[in-house]
Amino acid sequence: MSAYAPPQRKKTTTHSFQSKKQRTLPITMLTAYDYATAQAVDRAGIDAILVGDSLGMVVLGYESTLPVTMDDMLHHCKAVSRGASYPLLIGDMPFLSYHVGVDEAVRNAGRFLAEAGMDAVKLEGGREVVEVSQAIIRAGLPVMGHIGLTPQSINQLGGFKAQGRTALAARKLIDDALALEDAGCFSLVLEAVPGRVAELISERIDIPTIGIGAGAGCNGQVLVTHDLLGLFDRFTPRFVKQYADLHGVMGEALTAYREDVENGLFPADEHTFAISEDEWQHLLEDIDPKLTM
Ligand code: KIV
Repeated sequence: MSAYAPPQRKKTTTHSFQSKKQRTLPITMLTAYDYATAQAVDRAGIDAILVGDSLGMVVLGYESTLPVTMDDMLHHCKAVSRGASYPLLIGDMPFLSYHVGVDEAVRNAGRFLAEAGMDAVKLEGGREVVEVSQAIIRAGLPVMGHIGLTPQSINQLGGFKAQGRTALAARKLIDDALALEDAGCFSLVLEAVPGRVAELISERIDIPTIGIGAGAGCNGQVLVTHDLLGLFDRFTPRFVKQYADLHGVMGEALTAYREDVENGLFPADEHTFAISEDEWQHLLEDIDPKLTM
């Protein structure tokens, strides 16, 4: 029997996100990039799935999220939307898909909902993305903000480092959070931010904050599923709690398969289709009558 069962529940909406914050119930969010993982995340009762541009690193093997394209994102979002029914589905807008012009950003955001089955989009950035966020929201699409460590700006931030660790930098984050709330974002990701700063932001704004490396004072938590499952062995950020070592489990299973094939143990009879004795004899007779006696 499976260790997890689908809880009876309704589809999560941006309204249920807000209502969870009001009732001080923690919001759960995980990433998924494919059908099977989306099904597992859904069945585990998680509130929201982010099809993150982190897929560039953990699935496509890039060094950063910068090379990820709209086509990559839509392809993976479609697979996730086929696998998940209940979680709120959020598509991450990739680098350059909302930076060049507001019209292009609205069109790209719309594709996540119209073509790829997402319920909302996420954009990285603070006050500099307020105008574009407002335009997307005006077009009827819910927007999740993302401040703190924003991997698409890695070259400006000087690496994958915690943000908001000085009073000045923390103040900037608070102002960004207030601006994104005013712009109409329904929720805000806080990534790699000191716990006290994240808690203060969560108290100062009415929309729910979802933390990743931002402590327990946020209204919800998100992790990259590949990190949580131990599937990505290049590096694991300090803030990740690893719940399994699937890379190790996968390695053992694949090695056992190789050994079985090399030692003649796979495939066995139970993995092999049979042909009836009659049909076999007909075949032998057909190809060489001398063989049937
Ligand atoms: O791309 C992603 O997975 C993300 C999360 C880390 C929040 O943006």
